[in-house]
Amino acid sequence: MQTILYISCSPRGSASHSLDFAEEFLTRLHQHHPTARIHNRDLAANPPTVVDAAFSNAILDPASPPEAFTQSETLIRELEDADALVIATPMHNFTVPAVLKAWIDQIVRIHRTFKSTPAGKVGTLQDRPVYILIASGGWFSGPSPTGTPAQPDFLTPYLTTILNTIGLRDIHIIALEGVTRGPAMLERAVSLARQSLDRILPPR
Ligand SMILES: Cc1cc2nc3c(=O)[nH]c(=O)nc-3n(C[C@H](O)[C@H](O)[C@H](O)COP(=O)(O)O)c2cc1C
Repeated sequence: MQTILYISCSPRGSASHSLDFAEEFLTRLHQHHPTARIHNRDLAANPPTVVDAAFSNAILDPASPPEAFTQSETLIRELEDADALVIATPMHNFTVPAVLKAWIDQIVRIHRTFKSTPAGKVGTLQDRPVYILIASGGWFSGPSPTGTPAQPDFLTPYLTTILNTIGLRDIHIIALEGVTRGPAMLERAVSLARQSLDRILPPR
């Protein structure tokens, strides 16, 4: 493994739980691949532009000027150059933050990262490991420890499906749930996340 692309989304800097756990995760991944270079694409610091008229028209008309895809090409090439992808993200309103959706809209591109075929959309990217690290204030994978029903989860099925669409199928998800519900719950979330980390990438 030569290059790890690390996509970060939280705007909360050192207060962020997803960024905090990502550091631990990347340290472990680096232990497994000591020569790998980590390339950070910080979507909170530099949000991709949202889909505008030029981009929409270029998607719909293959004869349109390639300039409309300049940003998209940069982001897709970063992805193509990576041997592994790490996405650290908050849950925002049951799904991905807007900056992550903006990135997805740039990298999931017809005739480039997927093809439309009679059998449906077929991804064109080579598969590689994708690690998704999620921080959420409450619980979505099941009820809370006190029995509050699980929130809807449009984050994990959406990210999995959209990454599958471009050919990325080797997906591993670690969620820190309940991180805003007091120190004991935060400690529990980190401890469970570390157990998942040890299963996915055993300590070395
Ligand atoms: C705009 C916004 C929406 C949020 N929506 C949810 C939500 O739907 N479900 C949830 O469990 N937590 C939600 N939270 C809480 C965050 O997931 C939580 O604060 C988490 O720690 C954010 O990740 P970070 O610490 O890496 O920034 C939301 C927070 C914000 C700011």
